[in-house]
Amino acid sequence: MDIKLKNISKTFGIKKVIDNLSLDISSGSFTTLLGPSGCGKTTLLRMIAGLETPDSGTILLGGRCVFSSDEGISIPPEKRGLGFVFQDFALWPHMKVKDNVAFGLRAQGKAENLEEKVRSALHAVQLDDYMESYPSELSGGQQQRVSFARAIVTEPECILFDEPLSALDALLREEMRSELKALVSQRGITSVFVTHDQTEAMSMSDKIAVMSKGIIEQYASPEEIYSKPVTRFVAHFVGSSDWIDERSMFRPENADLERKSDDDICLTAKVIGSEYLGSSYRILMRYSNEKWVIEAGRKIEIGAEVPIYINKNSILCIED
Ligand SMILES: Nc1ncnc2c1ncn2[C@@H]1O[C@H](COP(=O)(O)OP(=O)(O)OP(=O)(O)O)[C@@H](O)[C@H]1O
Ligand SMILES: [Mg+2]
Repeated sequence: MDIKLKNISKTFGIKKVIDNLSLDISSGSFTTLLGPSGCGKTTLLRMIAGLETPDSGTILLGGRCVFSSDEGISIPPEKRGLGFVFQDFALWPHMKVKDNVAFGLRAQGKAENLEEKVRSALHAVQLDDYMESYPSELSGGQQQRVSFARAIVTEPECILFDEPLSALDALLREEMRSELKALVSQRGITSVFVTHDQTEAMSMSDKIAVMSKGIIEQYASPEEIYSKPVTRFVAHFVGSSDWIDERSMFRPENADLERKSDDDICLTAKVIGSEYLGSSYRILMRYSNEKWVIEAGRKIEIGAEVPIYINKNSILCIED
């Protein structure tokens, strides 16, 4: 199911939260809305779901208009054919796992082969043995899996995820990333995933829409966003960036303590800190008014002025 947002705006009180935003999401893709807290990610996702009404604009799902301010169309959430997974799992505490998963099917009147569908959804998230348990008897990761099962059991063409992994600890989070990705891509489900975690966005997405203050700063593949950020906001927000001046920067991995090629330029920076990472050292430096971080194979004394070599082809010039 492809998703087309055209000129969407939304104001709360006097605050414009989404500002004339347009976005095309292709069918079957995994798309992430990435941006800092308060930039409008949840609001945008809720408008796609129909849980929030835009002030103006058009939303098309699989070619079908589900919202149009001009034409006075507003299809309710349950008729949009979408799944939704929330940050806080939103499971019913008084219902067994199997009934939590069956809830959506029952609500949509899809009671045929109900037990088999529930069993198969719980099998997909490896919770076969927990059908009869209550949510409070499950770990955080297991509860989140129940919410995934509940989203896939109705076989939606698209699932909207609002920070589904943020309540989990770091290790579990990493495991669940690939589980979740496999679950939706095997089924060809179009996924719109909200996060403010850039590593999560980079590792899971086909495309990332980097948002700031209600607009999309850049919409591209993770590789392109990292290697060709189009605005300073994107360059700062995604990955580490070391700035030479207001408009030029390089990524830490492109800096070296030794000259590697004739294309290298040399800049001198002062070491202000050093952290041992096991495989390398993370060196904090000051260059002019900027703070740099580079990775080095050896320790350098704090206070030392050292030459840093950067291949000039890896320096990114940001116009905006
Ligand atoms: N129902 C509401 N009433 C008033 N203001 C709202 C409402 N919902 C959201 N906002 C405001 O809209 C802005 C965007 O909120 P939103 O929840 O979309 O941000 P977000 O990008 O999801 O942030 P986070 O990463 O913290 O979840 C915020 O300033 C928020 O206070
Ligand atoms: Mg949010």
